[in-house]
Amino acid sequence: MSHRAGLLSAAAAAAARVNLLLLLLAVLFSCSSLSDGVPEFALTKIEEGDIKDESGKEPLPEDDADPEDLEVFYPTHQWQTIRPGQAVPAGSHVRLNLQTGEREAKLPESEDGRSETREERRRKRLGKVDVDANSFTSQELKKALAKMKESEKAERKAREEEVRKKFRPIEQLKEEFEKLNVKMETDYEIMVQLISKFNSSASTLADKVAALYDLEYYVHQVDNAKDFLSMGGLQLVIEGLNSTEATLKEHAAFVLGAALSSNPKVQIEALEGGALQKLLVILATEQPLPVKKKALFALSSMLRHFPYAQQQFLKLGGLQVLRSLFRQKGMQTLHVRVVTLLYDLIMEKLLLEGSPQEEQAAEKLHQYEQVRLVPAVVEQDWCAAVSALLGAPEHDTREKALKTVSVLMAFCGERYRRDPALGTALSLLRSEYEQLAAQEQSEGDTDGYFSELLGSVNTVIQQLR
Ligand SMILES: *[C@@H]1O[C@H](CO)[C@@H](O)[C@H](O)[C@H]1NC(C)=O
Ligand SMILES: *[C@@H]1O[C@H](CO)[C@@H](O)[C@H](O)[C@H]1NC(C)=O
Repeated sequence: MSHRAGLLSAAAAAAARVNLLLLLLAVLFSCSSLSDGVPEFALTKIEEGDIKDESGKEPLPEDDADPEDLEVFYPTHQWQTIRPGQAVPAGSHVRLNLQTGEREAKLPESEDGRSETREERRRKRLGKVDVDANSFTSQELKKALAKMKESEKAERKAREEEVRKKFRPIEQLKEEFEKLNVKMETDYEIMVQLISKFNSSASTLADKVAALYDLEYYVHQVDNAKDFLSMGGLQLVIEGLNSTEATLKEHAAFVLGAALSSNPKVQIEALEGGALQKLLVILATEQPLPVKKKALFALSSMLRHFPYAQQQFLKLGGLQVLRSLFRQKGMQTLHVRVVTLLYDLIMEKLLLEGSPQEEQAAEKLHQYEQVRLVPAVVEQDWCAAVSALLGAPEHDTREKALKTVSVLMAFCGERYRRDPALGTALSLLRSEYEQLAAQEQSEGDTDGYFSELLGSVNTVIQQLR
């Protein structure tokens, strides 16, 4: 067993390096393809030993960017550390700080007055914006990150193979694996290994976190998630939500969220396994932000397109729990995610009610009828919580807030009409987006992002009349 562990950790170290290189290359690629300047790029050879902990422990995985979790890095003229999972706008200078091993980025230095004004303009936008002509749209960023993750895993597999070959003749390895009755190749077998690593009392905290991190990749696939369930992995992960270690809670929620995504079978089992209560406990109690983030991700995956879970969620006071996140300090980054979830849940029901009735839909409709979401939304004054987000600096947040205010108008209209601050906020947004949309159009983009936002603002203003 020990030579295998050694091989795997060597492979993991190699994977970590490939991972880093990939990210740097991806950044370099986006810089050179989308910006006018040549990016400064300081990459020096990294020795394997720099990354690999010689005791054979695997390095702690990065807090990976699930699409729910995308954050954008806003460069300034100073070098700043890029946190794992953050997306870097095109045109930024990126370097690897060899002292700390961290990636850093900043705005490129301007070389002449002309690019100064361009840069200034870009910077002004970046200060508030996560989308502009020289950057990705957040949608594109999410896609790019998802892709990056895929290719990263493929690379890792390839590297594992390579390392295995190097260390031992493959025939000998096969023989030994056969003796251990282990076939390494299938996802099923890999998940068995990872689950037992997570479940073993001999594993360190870092081992367990690493196992969860890897599992998250496998359980994205619907069939793997079903296997994960039958192996008892789902229940282990649900229990992991109870852990006293914040990092285990965080990663357990991450795996759970991935397994739940668009997987009705897992949704049902997780609900029956008590996952909903545990997630709500995490969200209702004092926890580090990353733990709450992942718990909210898992909760969202649990509730989407699962009316029975939505009903239980309301019964358990889940909506109040989410509402309380708006009163806690330091949870601002969660607000837009909460409002997005709320919007999705309301729309799910509306769309179904508006669609032609088939037999199956009738049963679903019946289930959704029991989800009394809107009355609870009005009673807990989500109207105000949502409209307050219109004052957020990020366009993305405002976009979600505008859409949600618009669907809430039918229920919150009276309250909104009595709120002078809302009128003011909308006027401000309108003039800002009139300018940005005009600029966008002068650059040849006739149905760009800002025009769309302007349209949403105007819709809400009309609804208010
Ligand atoms: C986890 O470990 C416990 C105790 O060793 C064992 O009883 C249980 O079956 C294991 N669970 C899984 C899913 O492997
Ligand atoms: C997990 O927490 C729940 C309450 O949220 C508690 O009832 C249960 O006993 C805990 N389980 C473990 C294994 O600690």
